[in-house]
Amino acid sequence: MTAKRSDLKRQLLEQARKRTTPRATSSAAAPSQGNDSSNPVPERFTRFDAHPGYQQLAMLRQGAEQLGLKDPFFKVHEGIAGATSVIQGQPCINFASYNYLGYSGDPRVNQAACEAVTRYGSSVSASRVVSGERPIHRELEHAIAKAYQVDDAVAFVSGHATNVSTLGYLLGPKDLVLHDEYIHNSSLVGAQLSGAKRMSFSHNDPDALDALLSRHRHQFERVIVVIEGLYSMDGDIPDLPRFIELKKRHQVWLMVDEAHSFGVMGDNGLGLHEYFAIDPRDVDIWMGTMSKTLSGCGGYIAGTKALVETLRYFAPGFLYSVGMPAQVAAPSLKVLALMQQEPERVEKLHSISRYFLQQAKKHGMDTGHSIGAAVVPIIVGSSPLAAHLSHTLLEQYHINVQPILYPAVPEKSARLRFFLAYDHTQAHIDQTLEALAKLLAQAQS
Ligand SMILES: Cc1ncc(COP(=O)(O)O)c(C=O)c1O
Repeated sequence: MTAKRSDLKRQLLEQARKRTTPRATSSAAAPSQGNDSSNPVPERFTRFDAHPGYQQLAMLRQGAEQLGLKDPFFKVHEGIAGATSVIQGQPCINFASYNYLGYSGDPRVNQAACEAVTRYGSSVSASRVVSGERPIHRELEHAIAKAYQVDDAVAFVSGHATNVSTLGYLLGPKDLVLHDEYIHNSSLVGAQLSGAKRMSFSHNDPDALDALLSRHRHQFERVIVVIEGLYSMDGDIPDLPRFIELKKRHQVWLMVDEAHSFGVMGDNGLGLHEYFAIDPRDVDIWMGTMSKTLSGCGGYIAGTKALVETLRYFAPGFLYSVGMPAQVAAPSLKVLALMQQEPERVEKLHSISRYFLQQAKKHGMDTGHSIGAAVVPIIVGSSPLAAHLSHTLLEQYHINVQPILYPAVPEKSARLRFFLAYDHTQAHIDQTLEALAKLLAQAQS
């Protein structure tokens, strides 16, 4: 080994030693503080049950137990979860699943999945970049691009990872991510990963965004505004034409997460561009998930050829992750075809959602800003009350609705969040709202 090389080796070993000595002092004069038994690391840094997350969970469970409530999470549905479901052997009316057009469980969609698994096997056994590509991937992506009338689309294996990877890859430390304050966690994590500066603006408030852009746009290179097409906690939508006007004036990118709006908004369920009759090319990045209306799993980005190709070659959650299994891609492809043949499902979803909203308002319930499109919250103002209502509705009335508790929403806006499906009936809704009204009256007396 040459002198140069052995020097280099010594330096590398020294650096590695420094990295592996926890918070070791760099001063040679200071006494050793290695983690030997004379200087143990506090248990809170070595035990999972001392982790703040676990402790928060334990506190929540204790609180629920004191109120005589069951854990409202991880309820097991024993079959297809749509407008109705079966939980612990008990059939119930179900408002907790985003199977908006009822295609998850549809025999035609199941059949597509079965044929795909028979033809391609259950895994594509590689990243798509390196041998995981199957014809069905591009068929699905072309169908998504067609729905948006844009150049192309790319499908990721997870909706959450789609936002993380897309924002994480496209933006960097000289850039700015501006997002609605209610944006989904996946966009927040993507923004954090990118290293870009992040700012939020008040919910659905283009004026607030305009003010931030006027003040800060010039300090950054790339700027992206991220909004959702239908907010899943509140059931309200952004004024998309106004956001497009802003994005053009300030020369920034606009990204719309259509996880909940695709399949729901617009006469054919094509999402916010159809609803507002805007040119889809006025939005730079359309994002959506396959897990809601499209009855599969995964996410997509649709837009220009350059955007899609860049992500296809560089977005880490695409490049370094396995390709979508064929039996997961096939149902979404089938649903896109069925949506074209059956626009009446979208119309039924719209009318049953409006009915829910009207009836809830008649009962004097607080539905926030919901526009009555598949998502309607009933805000009850306290997490224990929301948990109690959800528990009692299931136990006594066989109605399943998820409570949304602090910290997912501020404590004073804790709520029951109702997802509507095209096959909910007026009878389901009347029965549910009557039971809820009775329980609310009892809680107030
Ligand atoms: C707005 C929004 N974006 C992204 C996601 C992540 O999608 P997925 O659950 O399909 O991973 C969700 C999940 O519900 C969502 O509501």
